[in-house]
Amino acid sequence: MTLKEIILKQADIQLNLLSLGAILHQVWVKDKAGKAINVLVGFKKPEDYLHNPYSMGATIGRYAGRISGSFCINDKKYSLFNENGVHLHGGKTGFAQKIWQVEAISENAVTFVYLSPDGEENYPGNLNARTTYRLLENGYEIMYEAETDCPTYVNLTNHAYYNLSGKGSVTNHLLKLNCDRYLETDTRQIPTGKILCVDETPFDFKEEKILTAHPQFKGIDDCFLLNDNTLPAATLFSPETGLRMRVFTDQPAVVIFTPHDFGSVHHHFKDRYSAYSSICFETQKPPDAPNHPQFPTALLHPGERYVNKTQFLFENL
Ligand code: GLA
Repeated sequence: MTLKEIILKQADIQLNLLSLGAILHQVWVKDKAGKAINVLVGFKKPEDYLHNPYSMGATIGRYAGRISGSFCINDKKYSLFNENGVHLHGGKTGFAQKIWQVEAISENAVTFVYLSPDGEENYPGNLNARTTYRLLENGYEIMYEAETDCPTYVNLTNHAYYNLSGKGSVTNHLLKLNCDRYLETDTRQIPTGKILCVDETPFDFKEEKILTAHPQFKGIDDCFLLNDNTLPAATLFSPETGLRMRVFTDQPAVVIFTPHDFGSVHHHFKDRYSAYSSICFETQKPPDAPNHPQFPTALLHPGERYVNKTQFLFENL
């Protein structure tokens, strides 16, 4: 198995990408002093990602987030690999752990392709999945595409951990979300189906505010529903570097994840990062949508093309 590293570069931005998991390994952008900093928390070397329990930077599939153990398509039940009833990030060996092929490469873009065979992780249908990273003037776009030969569920996303200071913590970062609502979850973090209002909760980022401003902030690992797709889904700002990142997406939801630490893999980062080192913006369809008909559907039929685009744009102020 060959693990390729690909670098896309232009004046103010550089992406380091890996064929393993179609991973976004590093993102180098210039801060207000013109210094290049890597705004992702991730491992140092490409080979380190062979053991990547937190899916750092990876393409997540076939289904990003949680599914409550199984789903039905046309009255047929598909049981999925699960732990305590939770199927997470595509199963035991999700897309994050697969070697993707480089299908096309140009000066400013690369497309990785992965053919997920019928029955893989018990999902029906041969799924041809593509991840394209494309440099933009002040950031980059990640586009996912997929086609199937049999009805199946698909939900792809990127799982990069951002820290716009390039070190320390994101607890002093300012966050704004274009989201009035989020999903209630049970003790296993599976959506109950109920949609809650963010008002008066630690999840109210309708106006830009410090991530940890709410006295009950205990970290976030929740799915927010976007009010619309015209405004940035999320805006993140580091007062230290003056870097601002805006996330635009065509997806209906974003899972925000701010891990307190990375358990046993934390030692990889402990010289540079502290508690709440980073924040993920997993733009996607809602977790467990296959079991909640009122959620936007994640079903893909033969003849249809799944397309999902998210842009990460930077400014230094
Ligand atoms: C997602 C989930 C988290 C956690 C991470 C780890 O963000 O929402 O609960 O499982 O992935 O990859």
